[in-house]
Amino acid sequence: MAARGVGLLTHLPLRAQRSQGLRPSLRLLSCPGTVAADVRKEEQSSGSAETGSEDKTPKKRFSEVQKERREQAQRSVLIHFPNKISEKKFLKYLSQHGPVNNHFFYESFGLYAVVEFCQKESVASLQSVTRTPSLGTEAAIPFRSRCFHLKLKNASNQTAEQSCISRSNQSPPSSKKLFELLCDAESIDDQLNTLLKEFQLTEENTKLRYFTSSLIEDIAAAYFPDCAVRPFGSSVNGFGKLGCDLDMFLDLDEIGKFSDHKTLGNFLMEFQVKNVPSERIATQKILSVIGECLDHFGPGCVGVQKILNARCPLVRFSHQASGFQCDLTTNNRIALKSSELLYIYGALDSRVRALVFSIRCWARAHSLTSSIPGAWITNFSLTMMVIFFLQRRSPPILPTLDYLKSLADAEDKCVIEGHNCTFVCDLNRIKPSGNTETLELLLKEFFEYFGNFAFNKNSINIRQGREQNKPEPSPLHIQNPFETSLNISKNVSQSQLQKFVDLARESAWILHQEVNDHPSPSNKLWGLAALLLPSVAKNVSQAKRKKKKPASERVKNLLESIKSSSSTENSTNTNGTRTVTTQA
Ligand code: GTP
Ligand code: MG
Repeated sequence: MAARGVGLLTHLPLRAQRSQGLRPSLRLLSCPGTVAADVRKEEQSSGSAETGSEDKTPKKRFSEVQKERREQAQRSVLIHFPNKISEKKFLKYLSQHGPVNNHFFYESFGLYAVVEFCQKESVASLQSVTRTPSLGTEAAIPFRSRCFHLKLKNASNQTAEQSCISRSNQSPPSSKKLFELLCDAESIDDQLNTLLKEFQLTEENTKLRYFTSSLIEDIAAAYFPDCAVRPFGSSVNGFGKLGCDLDMFLDLDEIGKFSDHKTLGNFLMEFQVKNVPSERIATQKILSVIGECLDHFGPGCVGVQKILNARCPLVRFSHQASGFQCDLTTNNRIALKSSELLYIYGALDSRVRALVFSIRCWARAHSLTSSIPGAWITNFSLTMMVIFFLQRRSPPILPTLDYLKSLADAEDKCVIEGHNCTFVCDLNRIKPSGNTETLELLLKEFFEYFGNFAFNKNSINIRQGREQNKPEPSPLHIQNPFETSLNISKNVSQSQLQKFVDLARESAWILHQEVNDHPSPSNKLWGLAALLLPSVAKNVSQAKRKKKKPASERVKNLLESIKSSSSTENSTNTNGTRTVTTQA
């Protein structure tokens, strides 16, 4: 199944490839450990995983990153400005309250700065000199948060310096810009890495996510002083795209930790508490109150919806100042553990995130995923499919979850609500893969693999890294890695799955054609850009309308015929542009 190796072009220097009029192959550049892989890593934002260099620097554990970010966020404030501001004077003004560690500016319904002080006390000092505004005809609720509004006493002398302020970008590129960048890339590998670079969360966007969570924590702390509000999901697992939602959960477990001290001596002291019939009702009551608080007191929290009857009750709202769509749940430790697992998988090999981002963008471009809940595949499921696919390569690019569990030591042991969530938390103890396949090959083979997957009888299981018989008849079965009796894609309908399969086959076909078309004319949308065009979907639906043999069947047959002929071919063809075989 996996390609045996890379071909002739991979051994040619870049300049030699150019002089031969070939699109230089980044196959050379995609191998882990090469100079280019290091350059690409340097280009990657620390916002995503902050795990350092792949081979040399020790990679940080997820818990270390979380702790560090949370602590940074608690020392930070958000300040809204008038348009005219002198950065220098602004920083000087703030430093009255203590030294500033770092800051950045961004726009979202006005100009904002996130300022991180070196010490937490500086925040209290700033709050102590801040007044509650008097609003004339309206009344203000005097809630003292870490969000401020800065007014100028004398605007005229600030004008000259304000233009120097550089604003951090918080949005993904437009489709037009993306297509331009992709078409300017030098190879399909380069395209996948470009897409990753453009869409991944920036350092500033990541900081803003942790900061927003800590603002919500301040509100919840009014009722539960020792609580934590923790971000999880794509904001923290390394797979977040600029613009993705902010998933958070209210962690009340910290509160229980003090009980140890109270058991000393002959007495056992307990709080008097209110009893409710179930955990679910307790969750609903807590979220209901926090939802009210966000609605009534939370600066910039708008459109608060309490969705308490969902399988997993939540409060959904928009946070205006950050521009994030937020989902708040409670005690969702398993989801945080899933985030940690994805973080580890994403940090183990630089190809993982590049492939996941491209597949997610591809799925979005063809409306396979949606921000509205429904019968579609979710980004979480797509990520699991990519991980599973990478576990199936030969040699595997990613280890199975069972293998990660076998590496765990005593301090990694983790059981949540009776589910064993143990796996090794120190990334540096996991041996890197010896697989050197290119992103181009992996992308093509991903589409082929799932274009031909026996979804009707098999389940996807990253714990064991192999297909298993489906335990229940849902069209798509992806085993929940920790709550193993659950299917994370139970919502996906047969028609949505079929659409996925059709598009996967069509995309594999386009990539096969690309290889034969080499080199593409410069003005054509090629490679990944061609896959992101909605026309792929149109071809499928047109074929269906004409009641021809379904496009997916035609593509499947064509792919099979190509596969059987290419298995006898050498890895390079006459013009030297074919570099990989498709056969194992
Ligand atoms: P985005 O689409 O970028 O928001 O990706 P995401 O990974 O954040 O997905 P989403 O916001 O839908 O869910 C947040 C997190 O909840 C995921 O990362 C998972 O950890 C968890 N999660 C989502 N869906 C499921 C599910 O069906 N089952 C389980 N067990 N966990 C889920
Ligand atoms: Mg999310």
